[in-house]
Amino acid sequence: MSALAKNYNRRKISFKYGKGSFLYSTNGKKYLDFIQGIAVNCLGHSNPYLIKAINEQSKKLWHVSNAFVIPEGERLALRLVKKTFADSVIFQNSGAEATETAIKAARRYFYSIGKPKKNRILCVKNSFHGRTLATIFASGSKKMTEGFGPKVDGFDHFEFGNHQALKKSITTRTAAIMVETVMGEGGIKVIPDWCLKGLRKICNKEKILLILDEVQCGIGRSGNFFAFENSKIKPDIVPIAKGIGGGFPLGAVLMNQKVASGMTAGTHGSTFGGNPLAMSVGNAVLDQILKKGFLVNVKKLSKYFLSELNKLKREFPKVIKEVRGVGLLIGLQLHNDQTEFIQQLMNNELLTIRASENVVRILPPLNVKKQEIDMAIKIIKKVCLTQK
Ligand SMILES: Cc1ncc(COP(=O)(O)O)c(C=O)c1O
Repeated sequence: MSALAKNYNRRKISFKYGKGSFLYSTNGKKYLDFIQGIAVNCLGHSNPYLIKAINEQSKKLWHVSNAFVIPEGERLALRLVKKTFADSVIFQNSGAEATETAIKAARRYFYSIGKPKKNRILCVKNSFHGRTLATIFASGSKKMTEGFGPKVDGFDHFEFGNHQALKKSITTRTAAIMVETVMGEGGIKVIPDWCLKGLRKICNKEKILLILDEVQCGIGRSGNFFAFENSKIKPDIVPIAKGIGGGFPLGAVLMNQKVASGMTAGTHGSTFGGNPLAMSVGNAVLDQILKKGFLVNVKKLSKYFLSELNKLKREFPKVIKEVRGVGLLIGLQLHNDQTEFIQQLMNNELLTIRASENVVRILPPLNVKKQEIDMAIKIIKKVCLTQK
């Protein structure tokens, strides 16, 4: 009998330990883990560099309040600012907190310039920005909001890809457009670069802010540090989480100077956000991701993986409908419900996870080896053969 609430549909399996791309279960099996905590363990399990960083910090200082200067956090923020569009960072502990802080920052900016009624956020219908009250209503999904009323107001929605609807939904009350650069839970749907450019143009024209949620697709997962980089646009606010902590709970919101100017002392806070332990892990993750050649390798592995999956799609057109994704954020859209397929992959010791639209989500660590991709391809092919 579990004393845990039943809010998760857990698979009946647990693990003793993990190493790199593999998980070792309590029943003696070795699984190729292409979930990695849902795009969290960007450097795989038990990464020696991260272990060393957390061990060293844990002997010095775990936690102090944000009432004090935290040098590890100053360093991580400065590195993020140097690497990206941002001028300023607020640290949090999770993705939902980061997206919620992004919403707060957008509203606060307009308040600070004397436009407090400009406070509505325009989002994609059935997107995913987290599970807090505000972020479920931002997501505009009936499934996520049912039973959690009263509705948190302040969000409007448009259908993914419907540009006319998007333009029509902007009112004088709109403060920002918030989208995931790659819709993760929504089925690995990539917003094309031309579309990102269009979004930036609309935001400039309407004098509203652009929030790109990179909680799942950021920190190298796309093959670039941020998934929007190829489009050459600059967003105003970017919430991040998952990969930046490499398995340690860490989130952040990155902002340009204009937005950050509204977040004055006392406007936001978090007891744990940005504590020395989390910051030391975040810095260690960046040491690895920003190493020369690291992201080039992610792109190379992605190209190989996607081309092998497309070969399978051509071989099994009745099973695989579409190969989606960018970098190592990959979706295999099936013609039929994916539940049985994912179960069979697991029976063959490959772990993957679902996304909307019959998609099997494939999320290897960013330092996955080519042989491990080959192992996965072999297993996926084996399962396709049973479904023909
Ligand atoms: C795009 C996006 N935003 C926000 C979140 C929420 O993150 P968390 O579960 O850490 O609160 C997620 C989680 O999957 C996500 O994919």
